[in-house]
Amino acid sequence: MSATEPPPPSAAKREAALSAPLPAAFAVIEERLDAVEESFRANLASPVRLIAEIGDYVAAGGGKRVRPALHLLCAKLCGYEGPHDVLMATVLEFIHSATLIHDDIIDEAKTRRGRPSVNRRWGANVTVLFGDYMLAKAMEMALDAGSLRIMRKLAEVTMRMTEGEMLQTRHAGRLDLSVEEHLDLIERKTAVLFSGCCEIAGMLGGVSPDREERLRGYGLNLGLAFQIVDDLLDFTGDPRTLGKPSANDLREGKVTLALIDLLASGPARGRELARAVLDGGAADGPEIAELTALLEANGSIARARECAGRYAAQAAAQLAPFPAGPAREALEGLPGLLVLRDR
Ligand code: IPE
Ligand code: IPE
Ligand code: MG
Ligand code: MG
Repeated sequence: MSATEPPPPSAAKREAALSAPLPAAFAVIEERLDAVEESFRANLASPVRLIAEIGDYVAAGGGKRVRPALHLLCAKLCGYEGPHDVLMATVLEFIHSATLIHDDIIDEAKTRRGRPSVNRRWGANVTVLFGDYMLAKAMEMALDAGSLRIMRKLAEVTMRMTEGEMLQTRHAGRLDLSVEEHLDLIERKTAVLFSGCCEIAGMLGGVSPDREERLRGYGLNLGLAFQIVDDLLDFTGDPRTLGKPSANDLREGKVTLALIDLLASGPARGRELARAVLDGGAADGPEIAELTALLEANGSIARARECAGRYAAQAAAQLAPFPAGPAREALEGLPGLLVLRDR
């Protein structure tokens, strides 16, 4: 695709999901991302009507498809030319989707990607089972790549994500959470999957252990930056753009980086406001607006954004030994793009 040609509709949809024009370098994976979309849908077909029905709903809900893009770009970077990158990108998006589906039950979320969550439409019981089905299906699909190392990595990623979600339930509502505890949690729940997306691409490409390690580091740092920004958007983003309400995290009991900073370095009013939102008395009230203003005024938002920026820079630095070309260019641009996103 040349810079002057209009992007195909599927690319336009992805740009809308990210709200940013994708740099031209992303064109190298355009067709493969379309193939992932197709494979995602096809692998949720089932003679059991309920599975197919929820599957269609989940597939149509879209999402930014960040993890498939990451995997496909890393596979390209590693010189992989077979068919298993599309397969693994689908598997990784299945694992991500299943985790979000389970997460929405845990968080009692009513909205996901701007539409009613699966649990709201079908109830928690069916939704638990659908998430289980997706995880099992992901592992079954992955067998086609014929690699025990890849299977081990997928199992590890899924276990770490579950640990992250479990830790989160333990930490819920804790205003004394340390930065270290918080970073450990977001590493498990988000960053390990990002690193898996990159490492598995290295395994497909048969790269050296040193390069696998760099891919792991790229994904892990990118994932940390991604989650920190996601948590900031919860305070600073537009609820209509995000598809979920403001300060949702704190209402769900999640104490995130900017708030930890405010509690440690800001006025006592910060703690009072956080407590009020946590206790549920401030559902849409002025406390949320005041807390957000305080996070801004105290510099807590800016410091958390800087922290995300440092992880993003550390991610990009991992790519130095890889060959120059569109895949590396796109991967070098991705951390900045994800840090600046508004959804
Ligand atoms: C949401 O991930 C969960 C987090 C790790 C913050 P995404 O922001 O990638 O969700 P979708 O797939 O685009 O909806
Ligand atoms: C999403 O986490 C689930 C995982 C990353 C495993 P969150 O609960 O923080 O994300 P949202 O706000 O529901 O998307
Ligand atoms: Mg959630
Ligand atoms: Mg959650």
